Amino acid sequence: MALDSHAPSIERLRVTVAMRGLAERIRPMVGDMAEPGLPPASFDLVWSEGALYNIGIENALRVCHGLLRAGGYLVFTDAVWRKENPPPEVKAGFEDDYPTMGRVADVLAVIERSGLLLIDHFTLPHEAWWDDFYTPMEIRIGELRGKYGDDDEALAVLDQLAQEPEMHRRYSDYYAYEFFVARLMG
Ligand SMILES: C[S@@+](CC[C@H](N)C(=O)[O-])C[C@H]1O[C@@H](n2cnc3c(N)ncnc32)[C@H](O)[C@@H]1O
Repeated sequence: MALDSHAPSIERLRVTVAMRGLAERIRPMVGDMAEPGLPPASFDLVWSEGALYNIGIENALRVCHGLLRAGGYLVFTDAVWRKENPPPEVKAGFEDDYPTMGRVADVLAVIERSGLLLIDHFTLPHEAWWDDFYTPMEIRIGELRGKYGDDDEALAVLDQLAQEPEMHRRYSDYYAYEFFVARLMG
């Protein structure tokens, strides 16, 4: 089961799954992770990268706990602060999407409160941000600047998108993505 609330992304996944002959193994589904409508206590693994924060990490872990069968694993990543007093530009960059963003210790406390057992956690390395994310993103932004050179509105959107990798280049010491593995003990 592959769930996201953004229908166009699920449609793209559906096409890829069909092209690669994986329809028996991956079932794309448009849905709200807060109310997934999936059978409780029936999953061996729930895996979510950079998405649980959308419904609040505490709430998300409660939902995931409800989906896992005994012995099942929850694997997720979440953005965390690494240093006190981030520059206003960085704080503002996270404020809309991650208003309750904490530190690693805060997420560990949420895992403990959720009734899951922490197995391990680590900080995603530098390459995880750049190799498959910001480097291709900056190349694509460059291509689109060429394509939409006469369109001020499109250029303004591209300028805004370009701020994120630039912020990361300057301020990545202040925040990180942490990868967590937890388990529902039987
Ligand atoms: C930062 S993206 C991460 C996407 C993907 N996991 C990845 O690593 O590339 C967050 C995703 O959460 C989805 N999302 C936001 N709120 C959601 C909700 N309530 N239920 C399901 N998906 C949601 C968004 O549509 C978006 O695709």
